[in-house]
Amino acid sequence: MKLCPKEFEAMQSGWRRWYIREIELKTFKKFGLWIKDRDILEVGCGSGYAASLITAEAPRSYTGLDDGSFDAVLDFCILHHVEGWRVFFDECRRVLKDGGCIYIADLSRSCIHAIDALLRWDHAEETLFSFEELEREANSRGFRTVKKAIDLGMEGYFRFQKE
Ligand SMILES: C[S@@+](CC[C@H](N)C(=O)[O-])C[C@H]1O[C@@H](n2cnc3c(N)ncnc32)[C@H](O)[C@@H]1O
Repeated sequence: MKLCPKEFEAMQSGWRRWYIREIELKTFKKFGLWIKDRDILEVGCGSGYAASLITAEAPRSYTGLDDGSFDAVLDFCILHHVEGWRVFFDECRRVLKDGGCIYIADLSRSCIHAIDALLRWDHAEETLFSFEELEREANSRGFRTVKKAIDLGMEGYFRFQKE
């Protein structure tokens, strides 16, 4: 499922850029994110606004990944009876160095249901999760929770470390 055009447009807007710059990136830094001289992989980088902020801080390397045609991922998950965000942790585990960290900012299933009811962004149910499910999955797949916070009960921030 591709992002619907309205959601894609919202992701390019000035408010979204402000939110990435002033809220999400700053929260990750409070959680301990250090960019300079580190190898950074950004999954779901969209059109690359965060990439421009990250590379301005001189990482050793930066790689941005975005599967704009999400269909292939969904097909894989349906075929293998798994949910995409579970596969995500296995892939992170595979590519991260020992002790490497994942920083996640995302909305919970209930929040996305509310957005979809209001704006008709139509997310596939298979892609949604509660924060409890997300953390349980990370912990059971070899990641320890280092920090977490739920902003206004809507956006969850997590730092997980590969054990
Ligand atoms: C809600 S948008 C956020 C885009 C950008 N990070 C931002 O904050 O503006 C989520 C992005 O994740 C991408 N995405 C979804 N599933 C993905 C996957 N399995 N692998 C890579 N990118 C994915 C989508 O194409 C989309 O660009």
